[in-house]
Amino acid sequence: MSKIFIDACLGKETPYTPVWMMRQAGRYLPEYMEVRAKAGDFLSLCHNPEMACEVTLQPIDIVGVDAAILFSDILVIPDEMGMDLSFVKGEGPKFSDPLESQEDLDRLIGGEEAASKLTYVYDTIKLIKERLSDDKALIGFCGAPWTLATYMIEGQGTKTYNICKKMMYSNPELLHNILAKVTEVVKLYMEKQIEAGIDVVQIFDSWASAIEPSKYDEFSWKYMVEIADYLKSKFPDTPIIMFPKGVASFIEQDLVYGNFDVFGVDWSTPMALAKEKLGDKYVLQGNMEPTRLYSKEATKECVESLAELMKDGRHIFNLGHGILPDVPVENAKYFVKLCQEASKRD
Ligand code: CP3
Repeated sequence: MSKIFIDACLGKETPYTPVWMMRQAGRYLPEYMEVRAKAGDFLSLCHNPEMACEVTLQPIDIVGVDAAILFSDILVIPDEMGMDLSFVKGEGPKFSDPLESQEDLDRLIGGEEAASKLTYVYDTIKLIKERLSDDKALIGFCGAPWTLATYMIEGQGTKTYNICKKMMYSNPELLHNILAKVTEVVKLYMEKQIEAGIDVVQIFDSWASAIEPSKYDEFSWKYMVEIADYLKSKFPDTPIIMFPKGVASFIEQDLVYGNFDVFGVDWSTPMALAKEKLGDKYVLQGNMEPTRLYSKEATKECVESLAELMKDGRHIFNLGHGILPDVPVENAKYFVKLCQEASKRD
């Protein structure tokens, strides 16, 4: 059966514009919280294929999205490369021993050896594919090397990125060595995700906007192009969605080359601007401001204007970043239904 979601990613005409939500499997769903409580902590949930499969499928059944996104986290890669990851309640992810030197980097496991350790992810994908209905797609994902490197160097989330930016300007060689080593693992990891059964790849460059525009290509985009070229040479029919968050100010400068099918537009980038600058090259995904979900009226206003702007297609509905934990489930359902109805074509 042809999947409307895959067709839309490839720019083919579809009966309506499909929709999914970033972080659609998460804390706003009581059913997620139940499984999460059984698993104990967040990482144990990621490591348990049966439970990770269950929470991946929840938003398909509960909110009616057109694609499932694998339940995992971008940080399982540095964890399996040998950095000790933990999630501290209320504080987010932490690495006990952040990277400071070439010697620290040399101690990390790379390439095939690291990618082979992520068997629980591949097992989760296989289970999901057995249970996901034929007309829905499964999105696999990874973090961009730059976004992963920010956590590996800072040891946690950051507002200023001062440690990794200090490295960018005072020891760029070390930063490039980190990015290159991570890129190798990401390529093999995504290849194995595709072999296990994912239909679509999404690359999250959540901290793209931390880099000044003139340095973005050198420290982030070109590594993602390398990943996309590698995957496309092996799997030309698997669509790739690129989500670089917060890049409105340099949207045309560096972002028009690359073997990506879909460009994820974040909520701070006007969709009309993205359409003008990138719409011929990429199918566009996005981009409702996630907090609009608190109000049905605000949701309706945005969905209707996006549907009008993108009425010729080459669009996938989504939020412009992740859904927040206190959004009412009913409003998430409303958003999904509205997108599907507002974009219906005969
Ligand atoms: O539906 C989905 O999108 C589920 C899969 C998913 C998760 N993380 C689950 C998760 C995906 C695609 C991610 C990606 C991810 N993880 C990113 C890039 C996407 C983005 O939002 O920009 C980043 C930067 C991370 C790193 C990360 N993981 C952080 C900063 C946090 C803490 C955030 C928080 O809200 O507490 C996590 C934990 C995490 N990853 C949760 C979920 C559902 C919350 C864990 C929980 O308490 O259950």
